[in-house]
Amino acid sequence: MILVLDFGGQYNQLIARRVRENHVYCEVHTLTDGEVAADKNVKSGLGTAINFSAIKNLKPEGIILTGGPQSVYNTSSSLPPAELFNLGVPVLGICYGAQAMVHVLGGQVKKSDVDEYGKTNLEIIHDSKIFRDVEKKSVVWMSHADRIFELPKDFSVTAQTENCPVAAAENPAKNLYAVQFHPEVLHTVEGKKIFSNFVDICGCKRDWNMDTFVADTVAELKNKIGNGKVLCALSGGVDSSVAAVLLSKAVGKNLTCVFVDHGLLRKNESAEVEAAFKNYDLNFVRIDAAERFLQKLQGVTDPERKRKIIGEEFIRVFEDVAKKIGAVDFLVQGTIYPDVIESGLGKSAVIKSHHNVGGLPDFVDFKEIIEPLRLLFKDEVRQAGRELGLPENIVSRQPFPGPGLGIRIIGEVTADKIKIVQDADAIYREEIFKAGIAPKLSQYFAALTNMRSVGVMGDGRTYDYAVVLRAVLTSDFMTAEAAQIDWAILNLVANRIVNEVKGVNRVLYDCTSKPPATIELE
Ligand code: XMP
Repeated sequence: MILVLDFGGQYNQLIARRVRENHVYCEVHTLTDGEVAADKNVKSGLGTAINFSAIKNLKPEGIILTGGPQSVYNTSSSLPPAELFNLGVPVLGICYGAQAMVHVLGGQVKKSDVDEYGKTNLEIIHDSKIFRDVEKKSVVWMSHADRIFELPKDFSVTAQTENCPVAAAENPAKNLYAVQFHPEVLHTVEGKKIFSNFVDICGCKRDWNMDTFVADTVAELKNKIGNGKVLCALSGGVDSSVAAVLLSKAVGKNLTCVFVDHGLLRKNESAEVEAAFKNYDLNFVRIDAAERFLQKLQGVTDPERKRKIIGEEFIRVFEDVAKKIGAVDFLVQGTIYPDVIESGLGKSAVIKSHHNVGGLPDFVDFKEIIEPLRLLFKDEVRQAGRELGLPENIVSRQPFPGPGLGIRIIGEVTADKIKIVQDADAIYREEIFKAGIAPKLSQYFAALTNMRSVGVMGDGRTYDYAVVLRAVLTSDFMTAEAAQIDWAILNLVANRIVNEVKGVNRVLYDCTSKPPATIELE
């Protein structure tokens, strides 16, 4: 296994992901001087604090020190102990992690004259095992204001950029590698090779797969939950379905899956979900709460308020169900890693409060919330779903947000608007499917703007809503580009929508990428 020590960088889970892509098990922990209970170092990689003696007990085959916002010369900054570099274990320091390695081993890090942010040209000036098969000149992603000025004893420079003479350095005898740039982000063109090389340097076997994640997580959940009662919020989407089946493997009949039909689902979705889960050994309960949600949303136009209301109402519905089934110890949610980042629970800014993370009310009537997929990216969740034997129509289902159509209707949500967006979306999905392009698109849906405009139908004037069609390409949903859908398909969809959906006289296609737009409209 490879241990990632997290110093607070924004994309540190990407580092873990790059390691997992090499079929090597990886855990992300923050470093602490304090005592750490041994059982906290859990197998599914749920990050916890770890101290030096616990690191030694873990016996990692490699250690990666992440980037982070601190400066090594500030006395309050977190630094790895010097002994870490004497364990005989290869260490890769990235950005702040590289500076911390250099600083702790006696080199010098200072504020740079020129900050480097964004794409930068890297030149490898010395052969290195970490750069095996890496192009001598390539583009890397930089994000630093400090830089390495002096290297510790036995270190030498292996790569440079125009403004950063020590862009990479190493002590090859001890397998210590420092890179100022971020190999984990895709902008670093050769980044994946660098991780693959590090995995080889560590001598890892590359035999870890999602089946191991599934087995470890099930075992861990069994251990944690024991005989406790578990309530799972099942939406029918990939994430909560995978979470539900993981939990059912761990606790069987102690699990009750509650599917809340909040009335903001896609056309026919409620019935489809119910049919799909009939085949599983779950206590499946469907709650029809459409009226309740609609009432709460009456007159509300602010997107964040809508998200919070829907999130809160979810919990209230669950509480009601929990009361009926008796004491419930745990609530399971299918939160995945991009939800966690975008809800700003780490150090990043709040973009949206995803209802299954930041939108929870302060008081929740359960002992604990369990989020077994919290550290996985979407494609990893799908892989886990396949391991668990979930059918492909669920596993490859496009993502659907917890707040549902509530955030695909700009402004106030009403029953009429829900019907419009459901019907328009069903037509759009049907035509995309017929055209055979669904597998190429990461997510596609119709949404309803709050714009009404003038049109002409038959011989009469109309003053109706504009539907917006969205389709994006993305691998991680944190950035996305608008898909270039064939005009003939869009034309057909637009025609069908204005003809078949009452209340719509205009159809728009959203060609914005994320950022600056987000995938959903609210
Ligand atoms: P955005 O709109 O933030 O969406 O670019 C990124 C991905 O997340 C989904 N999404 C949500 N999923 N609860 C969820 O479970 C939410 O509150 C939520 N908001 C957005 C969105 O559909 C896209 O796949």
